[in-house]
Amino acid sequence: MFDADFYRDPYRIYDRLRDQGPVQQVQVSSRGHHAWLITGYEQARAALTDPRLSRDTRRFAYLFGDRRDIAPALKSNMLATDPPDHTRLRRLAAPAFTATAVDRLRPRIQQITDQLLDTIAPQGAADLISEFAVPLPVTIICELLGVPEHDRPQLRHWSNTLFTIADATTRDRASHHIADYMTALVDRNYHRADDATTRQDGDLLGTLITARHRGDRLSQQEVVSLAVLLLIAGHETTTNLIGNAVLALLLNPDQHTAVTADLDRLAPAIEEFLRYDSPLGIATVRFTTQPVTYGPTTIPAEQIVMIGIGAANRDPAHYAAPAALDLTRPGPQSHLAFGHGPHYCLGSALARAEAHIALATLLRRLPGLQLDTSPDQLAWRPSRMMRGLRALPGRWHPGP
Ligand code: HEM
Repeated sequence: MFDADFYRDPYRIYDRLRDQGPVQQVQVSSRGHHAWLITGYEQARAALTDPRLSRDTRRFAYLFGDRRDIAPALKSNMLATDPPDHTRLRRLAAPAFTATAVDRLRPRIQQITDQLLDTIAPQGAADLISEFAVPLPVTIICELLGVPEHDRPQLRHWSNTLFTIADATTRDRASHHIADYMTALVDRNYHRADDATTRQDGDLLGTLITARHRGDRLSQQEVVSLAVLLLIAGHETTTNLIGNAVLALLLNPDQHTAVTADLDRLAPAIEEFLRYDSPLGIATVRFTTQPVTYGPTTIPAEQIVMIGIGAANRDPAHYAAPAALDLTRPGPQSHLAFGHGPHYCLGSALARAEAHIALATLLRRLPGLQLDTSPDQLAWRPSRMMRGLRALPGRWHPGP
């Protein structure tokens, strides 16, 4: 696992492992570290809701015994905690991500999408990752958090470093840069936010700083941790959804034509894109606090468990012809691309809205869109979590 061949087509290896059983022990590093990889849909779904599996990252550090120096803000966010801490953090943050909150953002998402396409549509060719799928979600999350435009490339660089397989020291340093940056940003906003007269609509940091639940509120440090999580979560995942979806259409011209001709089909199609090539498709991790048994396999206590979201979403025991893109597949929302259970993606409504606006507008404005390279030349990002392209060269009939 985790070589260039794996990143090009993880499904081939996932399928082979699943054939041997839905839960397998695998080697995850050249230094001999092992983990348990779940490739079966039922088992992955069970693991995502299993209270015996922890997301508390302090346990992972202990297991690997590495002398890591990850910024505390990246270790104490809601995705890195278990109940009751997790329940409390999520309850305070959730109102900022409701469908209504996301609906208010739609006009701005459309505007940014239009501006990006105004630039690239007349060119007739572009890398749709760097010129479209990256800048859209990055601009949205940075605007929501109030990150000034000139700081965004630097933040993106640090966020990328965190997710690629750079050496541990480089990744740890990036985590401190992000945490220091967000600490300063929250600091500047903290006292101002309590003054309702200076608050602006769509000011996410202000909303989080002033969020209350039965007399409880987020501490300044908790707002920093949450802001870091949102920045990271809002960066690459949605980029991968848009990029993987466009690629899926370009490799399936009949379905590309059908959905372009009838954009009402796009909402269920997005669910199939999420299943077919999941953005967080390599794995998400857990840690066993006691032995757990899934089917014939017992995973001992104190083990790392990798839940292969992309693998589960292509389990033939759950989906007919799982390796085929089928935009009319029944039950499109059954996939695990946003997780399942208590940590289910808080940003799913935002991600769906961004993907819907991005894809609908792109399909309308880039007629005759085709892949501008051969499929085997495509390069995928090396990451143990995310499944996404480095670049997606496309060409189309240039137009206004
Ligand atoms: C959690 C996927 C976009 C914020 C998760 C999880 C998944 C996921 C699989 C659960 C991880 C686990 O249980 O281990 C995705 C995908 C996205 C996306 C595929 C885009 C297509 C976003 C966006 C935001 C966001 C845009 C916010 C700006 C979060 C947060 C959590 C989370 C805060 C943690 C929830 C918790 O711990 O309770 N996401 N995500 N995500 N996501 Fe997303």
